[in-house]
Amino acid sequence: MRRLTGANCACYRTSPVSEFDLEFRNVTKTFGDVRAVDDATFQVRRGEFLSLLGPSGCGKTTSLRMIAGFDRPTSGEIFLDGQPVGATPPYRRNVNTVFQHYALFPHKTVVDNVAFGLRMKRQPRSHIAERVERMLALVELPGVGRRFPHQLSGGQQQRVALARALINEPTVLLLDEPLGALDLKVRRRMQQELKRIHREVGVTFVYVTHDQEEALTMSDRIAVMNHGRIEQLDTPAGIYERPATRFVAGFIGLTNLLRGVVEARNDRDVVVRIAGGARLRAETTDGAAAGAEVDVAIRPEKIRMTAVRPAAADNCLEGQVASFVYQGAATEYQIALANAQEVRVIVQNVGETWRAAVVPVGTPVYLCWSRGAGLILSDAAGAQPREPGDDDEAPAAERVAWR
Ligand SMILES: Nc1ncnc2c1ncn2[C@@H]1O[C@H](COP(=O)(O)OP(=O)(O)OP(=O)(O)O)[C@@H](O)[C@H]1O
Ligand SMILES: [Mg+2]
Repeated sequence: MRRLTGANCACYRTSPVSEFDLEFRNVTKTFGDVRAVDDATFQVRRGEFLSLLGPSGCGKTTSLRMIAGFDRPTSGEIFLDGQPVGATPPYRRNVNTVFQHYALFPHKTVVDNVAFGLRMKRQPRSHIAERVERMLALVELPGVGRRFPHQLSGGQQQRVALARALINEPTVLLLDEPLGALDLKVRRRMQQELKRIHREVGVTFVYVTHDQEEALTMSDRIAVMNHGRIEQLDTPAGIYERPATRFVAGFIGLTNLLRGVVEARNDRDVVVRIAGGARLRAETTDGAAAGAEVDVAIRPEKIRMTAVRPAAADNCLEGQVASFVYQGAATEYQIALANAQEVRVIVQNVGETWRAAVVPVGTPVYLCWSRGAGLILSDAAGAQPREPGDDDEAPAAERVAWR
């Protein structure tokens, strides 16, 4: 027996055969014409917290259902703990699921709900009682064992669901929008709780959400999905700082996209000429050749807004304040550039007097950023480019079309 990580670890496993608890190899699932999951290949390390993030209908639940064995891949193979599980029925997979709606047995007490999995395995009574107590302590619900689910709050019910899922010591715990039914305050608290429980038990979590902030704050890595495809799988910082596609750039946080043509490139820099003739410099991270149409993606908070043109700046555009929204700690500005295109800028309000907090509408400003802060996204990279008028799958993207 091998003990997994974590001080209060509840989970043991016999002779692991792979460093990965979960692996997808070219997994596709179709329902008629719909490719719910499209050629997904990825691995999840032991004890990792992986989030599947993406808009409604992108294939998150279908992915979980295939891991749990409720759906079978149309093609490709899923491995659990190094073993292919194509022929393994759900009840023989060492995987448990926590759903958005707690799916507790309404007529069973909390103790009976939590004990259910071990009773099915016909474990000795004393062992079950001890394990239930440990699980309820783990989810910080001691003393409610005799209550029924309807006597608990939503957050408490979800803790019971977690305890019930963890008591079987799964290799992988699947969580499908487990906090989706909770109000914001409880949700925030449960996010912290889930992270703590994950650390303590060391079980691999595959967590489905369409909430980008939740994915960014909780995950070791995030798989961003769109139309069944994994567009990028990376750490939260990697996803935010180095989005691989326009879709990822637009889905995670706010992004300005400045359209232009690659004018020159060398080992270090790409120079992109945008409409109106201004040239932008970015680090060479993408294969776009000279002459290619690309977007320069720049986050609103990476742009420095100044009243005077700096003596030296990698990138500097002139504009004027079109509107702003004062948000307390920061102010978000819409800046109209020389050719009336708009760029969004977020300025932290660090001034020492309140008078300095906002720059009035109409003020001429310079927008500057370093070459490392902008990112080149070419049509060749990953997903389909999002065109104006497309559906709202990338709601946060600020497309500034320079044509
Ligand atoms: N049993 C089914 N029969 C037909 N189509 C299905 C079935 N299950 C899922 N789909 C389709 O597969 C696609 C992916 O669905 P899925 O439930 O995996 O999305 P999701 O990412 O979990 O979305 P949401 O965030 O809304 O829960 C959708 O187009 C959906 O309509
Ligand atoms: Mg779903």
